[in-house]
Amino acid sequence: MCGIVGYVGRSEAAPILLDGLRRLEYRGYDSAGVAIVDGDHIGTRKCAGRIASLAKLMSEKPLSGSYGIGHTRWATHGKVTDENAHPHFDASGKIALIHNGVIENYQALKDQLAVDGDDQFTSETDTEVLAHLIGNIYRQLDGKDSKARLVNAVRAALKQVIGTYGIAVLHSDIPDFMVGARRGSPLVLGVGKDENFLASDVGAIVAYTRDAVYLNDFDVVAVERDKFEISSLAGEIGDRQVSKVEFTAEDIKKGDYPHYMLKEIFEQPATVRDAMRGRLSLEECTAKLGGLNMTPAQLREVGRVVLTGCGTALHAAMVGEYLIEQLANVPTEVEYASEFRHRNTPMTPDTLVFAISQSGETADTLGALRESRRKGYRTLGICNNVASTIARESDGGVYMHAGPEIGVAATKSFTSQLVILTLIGLLLGRMRSLSTAEGSRIIEALEALPKQIEEVLKLSDEIKAIAKKYADVNGVLFFGRQFNFPIALEGALKMKEITYLFAEGHPSAELKHGIIALVRPDLPSVFIAPDDGVFSKNVNNIEQVKARKGPIIALTSGNGAKKLKGIANDIIEIPDVPDCVSPILTVIPLQLLAYHLAVELGRDVDKPRNLAKSVTVE
Ligand code: G6P
Repeated sequence: MCGIVGYVGRSEAAPILLDGLRRLEYRGYDSAGVAIVDGDHIGTRKCAGRIASLAKLMSEKPLSGSYGIGHTRWATHGKVTDENAHPHFDASGKIALIHNGVIENYQALKDQLAVDGDDQFTSETDTEVLAHLIGNIYRQLDGKDSKARLVNAVRAALKQVIGTYGIAVLHSDIPDFMVGARRGSPLVLGVGKDENFLASDVGAIVAYTRDAVYLNDFDVVAVERDKFEISSLAGEIGDRQVSKVEFTAEDIKKGDYPHYMLKEIFEQPATVRDAMRGRLSLEECTAKLGGLNMTPAQLREVGRVVLTGCGTALHAAMVGEYLIEQLANVPTEVEYASEFRHRNTPMTPDTLVFAISQSGETADTLGALRESRRKGYRTLGICNNVASTIARESDGGVYMHAGPEIGVAATKSFTSQLVILTLIGLLLGRMRSLSTAEGSRIIEALEALPKQIEEVLKLSDEIKAIAKKYADVNGVLFFGRQFNFPIALEGALKMKEITYLFAEGHPSAELKHGIIALVRPDLPSVFIAPDDGVFSKNVNNIEQVKARKGPIIALTSGNGAKKLKGIANDIIEIPDVPDCVSPILTVIPLQLLAYHLAVELGRDVDKPRNLAKSVTVE
């Protein structure tokens, strides 16, 4: 949420900042801006709209200089206007600041600044208040060393802040220098040759350097061309390891695909394989998950599991509940991270908590992780981003290894999460009552998945034709039972996110308890009805919709298609698989349906309205 990029080096900053912002655009894209220093002059360009609008503005009115900062915004405080776009400046106009996060006490700080007569603001943002506060303190501090003075001013201002921030700050009188700091919002330092970078996401700078230092909360970093110094908010100098970024700029290219989302949907045979690679033990018919950092004895003692996350990750958690309870018979709860972190859920000491998050930076999931650890529960992460805050702060976990996911609507990360939750169910199950025969059946089912996903992806054109047929509907309902109930929720979420159509997911049987009142000819119902133990029950519900003239798109397998012929308007047939891995296949046609319908409606698939990929505010 909000992208930050900063550069200090010998090259022109403008193209580097714009390139970084383009790569960060998936984090927020309602407005953008840069500030670049040339000599002692600070130039800024900012505007509402996409990075393309900023690039146009900069081609009309170029900025020169070899250090600067850039920002792409997802509005929290203040409307989407040119004035509210970052960077923001202090009262002197010499200090520029970009910010990701929320300054909760901005009004109190504003009132305090007004007492000093510092009361002229040009935007409605909380960020501008922080810029003024830093400037105000900077002016009051003594000292010839202006670099130290700026760092101290940043520290003193941040000590007064309640809220979250990832920031980059520069001063037009201090050449080749910028200051970064973080609390709750990610910030990474890119270490180059005679140049250094700041970014909220390493993807922004990986084309320039793969050496990175992932900053911790309360770190303040002073960045120059050829050196950097990390200290705490209290001023203690810290030592940090430079790590190698595990992917390259090539990995975040769209290739021949028209959208990242489609590319990522089609990557799933590989990403599902990568999620289980080296984690299956054929001899013992179980999973090997060394990253959990738990001994077999500790795993055997787990009496309860809590799975938490937001959005798509929460839907994966809901499938996880069915999986862990069915395979391991361990009571499992799913908690919205945003609720879990603020309530006092009764938990026993033998509870194992999993925080599930693709980005590893979602503010509520991180909050849930911290709350759970504070209370003494062992808390593990299931993350894609290996350098993320959740990955670093958890007691252990399992990485997805899905590669960067750029499309705002999560796709490949979801199926990776499902594979990992199946592995966790298998591991816990085999330490309890799951037999070798059952264990090996699950392993076989998992290993067959990549090929079966390839089969499902071949249906893309067929699904596109169905999407075209329903392009003028007023909404879509999704229904499923058991393992596929959460898939109904996920199908509806994908549909809402990228088509902006009204969409709801429900357990099939709930149809009769209210939703049936919505059924009408311009509202299709998608039934996820593989040929499993609850197929005939799903057919009953399909008939109920049919009787009320609701169009039906049925997703089925095995003998299901034969039975649904003449009942469903459209049938999508997928391979028949054991019910516990079925969601990994059933979700893919729903991703494709949402994708093709969104394209048909002319939506901006990779950057849907109002959304952001990584939600680092509460
Ligand atoms: C945002 C994204 C969703 C994602 C959710 C959780 O809402 O738009 O696609 O599922 O955040 O993200 P996480 O990175 O924690 O999995």
